[in-house]
Amino acid sequence: MLDLLIHGGKIVTPDGVARGDIGIRDGQIVAVGEVNDPASETLDATGLHIFPGVIDTQVHFREPGMEHKEDIESGTRAALHGGVTTIFEMPNTNPATTTAEALQDKLNRAAGRAWVDYAFFVGAATDNIDQLAELEVLPGTPGVKIFVGSSTGSLLVPDDDHIRRVFEATRYRTPIHSEDHPRLEERKALISEHPTAHEHPFLRDVECARLATERVLKLSAETGHPIHILHLSTADELPLIAAAKREGVDVTTEITPQHLWFSAPDCYDRLGTYAQMNPPLRSNYHRLELMQALGHGFFDVIGSDHAPHTREEKDHPYPKSPSGMPGVQTLLPVMITIALRDKVIDLPTIAKMTSMRPAQIYGIRDKGLIAPGYDADLAIVDLDHDWVVEASWLQSKCGWSPYTGETLKGKPVHTILRGRVALRDGERQGAASGQVVEFDRGPVSAV
Ligand code: DOR
Repeated sequence: MLDLLIHGGKIVTPDGVARGDIGIRDGQIVAVGEVNDPASETLDATGLHIFPGVIDTQVHFREPGMEHKEDIESGTRAALHGGVTTIFEMPNTNPATTTAEALQDKLNRAAGRAWVDYAFFVGAATDNIDQLAELEVLPGTPGVKIFVGSSTGSLLVPDDDHIRRVFEATRYRTPIHSEDHPRLEERKALISEHPTAHEHPFLRDVECARLATERVLKLSAETGHPIHILHLSTADELPLIAAAKREGVDVTTEITPQHLWFSAPDCYDRLGTYAQMNPPLRSNYHRLELMQALGHGFFDVIGSDHAPHTREEKDHPYPKSPSGMPGVQTLLPVMITIALRDKVIDLPTIAKMTSMRPAQIYGIRDKGLIAPGYDADLAIVDLDHDWVVEASWLQSKCGWSPYTGETLKGKPVHTILRGRVALRDGERQGAASGQVVEFDRGPVSAV
């Protein structure tokens, strides 16, 4: 007897799209294909596409310390409504997640309040390097994140000596915010007298990103430490990464939907400081190069870099306005829209980049595929109807999205979390049932 039988949908896996049923028992998938077993509950997915639940490995949920922007409940609620079933949250909260106590505090806060499964990164800082080997294997963390250029919050590992020490101290893949700190500081002096957000990609210029990426690739090569470069934003970094890969450097990369969707100056004309993020949204030249790289399979994962700030904060004049935009709820529909509109990638590639690859590169246990033995985490979406992003659909506490008013495809209809229909017809069901993600700490390089 199955607990849940989902029938009639089109199942999207990295291998293709095929009509089929999914049988679920005890929270896991037990059968895929033509499934006729009796089930205590059935869900008709006729006409809908079933993606593996999205694993968003870069979100900022602001708890503790900045709960007026977002908290774990509201952030995971936004995830659930967007077909995201697992999130990895970043350490730049207040206090920052740099100790075992701070990590445990986040885990305690998430228990019973998270709508999707979760884990919390530990942040590397110049004063916790000696503890990182112990911290990175604590339950509830995917590992250690480094900011090599400062962004929101105070977490920073600015110089090569300290970065090298972090790489030598840890075993598992290090996600990196790659912008060069000394150059960012230097360029602050170049701000004009009456600045607007249009200056953001000039102040945090392409060279800031290129320099930092060059540095971390070199340090990764020297130490043999696996790295993951977050939210790539420039064409200039791509050949460096390709060359490093050819030389055997274990580097994986992330692309965000917003760096593929928006470009300067248009995004700053239309959205002003609401388009301000780090690393910045850049010219159409860079966007098109990133699109082309996406089409060639260059990037490993798609992450949202969900970074909510209130309207009041965003309305401060640049550069007092904080950097970051929400995105966890729109990640999947925006990527589906890009796939169907621009045709650079197909739906199976989205399944691969939003679920299989995140699970592989971080060693997530039992997630990432629609196959027997895996957690029944599913994002069931409607590909047939265009829809317009409206503020009333958004769940983030910040209450806005850079995509409001945009026409998208792929509206999330049902979200299944470990076999439970947690979102049905766009409505949440029952209580929050997210759990902490488990990891298989196997061989270091699982790519
Ligand atoms: O724009 C950004 N905002 N980039 C980051 O890396 C951090 C984020 C935030 O936390 O606000």
